[in-house]
Amino acid sequence: MDFFEAVHTRRSIKHYDKNAQMPESSFQQMMQAVMLSPTSYNIQHWRFVRVTDRQLRQQLQQAAWGQSQVGDASELIILCADIAAWQKNPERYWAESDEETRNILLPMINDFYAGKEQIQRDEAMRSCGMAAQTLMLAAKSLAYDSCPMVGFDVDDVASLINLPQGHVIAMMVAIGKAIEPAHKRSGQLPASQIIMENTF
Ligand SMILES: Cc1cc2nc3c(=O)[nH]c(=O)nc-3n(C[C@H](O)[C@H](O)[C@H](O)COP(=O)(O)O)c2cc1C
Repeated sequence: MDFFEAVHTRRSIKHYDKNAQMPESSFQQMMQAVMLSPTSYNIQHWRFVRVTDRQLRQQLQQAAWGQSQVGDASELIILCADIAAWQKNPERYWAESDEETRNILLPMINDFYAGKEQIQRDEAMRSCGMAAQTLMLAAKSLAYDSCPMVGFDVDDVASLINLPQGHVIAMMVAIGKAIEPAHKRSGQLPASQIIMENTF
């Protein structure tokens, strides 16, 4: 599928065919694309929880105020991030670059994040946002629908997936085959209200 067709036809789908399964090869192809999403300093701090356990799906659906896409979609992925990944053996993020580049970048990573909790958390959310869009467009390209979600009790979900200390949950994405089309688009703001030239 052409990139722009994927962008235009991706919609947030709420109702899924419970019996549809995504072939494992498609799932892997989609996730390989997701893992190429950009991260600042290449820290790749996203951690994706693929929920395959049906009972856990039901519990997560309850934590998401009953939203049926959590239980019914073919795949449910919880996009999390390790906030402290920047300081966990950061040389692995530049393992294939030359030594000179590594020697410049590693102290920069430290200076950028050390002691700056807000930036560390912002970065996690930024990276997960970009990964989520890659995920949804990859799904669409493979003829699957999706729904990004933050409509859930984050503490309940954290507890259900044993979210480790120092990690955050950015969102969930449900992926599957629609049984009902999306609502008509609710109204896009005109570009004149959104795109500035040079300054606000
Ligand atoms: C971060 C985020 C969280 C969202 N959470 C939910 C959700 O919990 N449940 C839901 O049905 N839709 C959710 N949506 C979908 C939005 O309602 C939807 O993206 C928006 O209305 C635009 O429609 P479209 O995605 O079909 O273009 C979420 C979207 C985003 C980006």
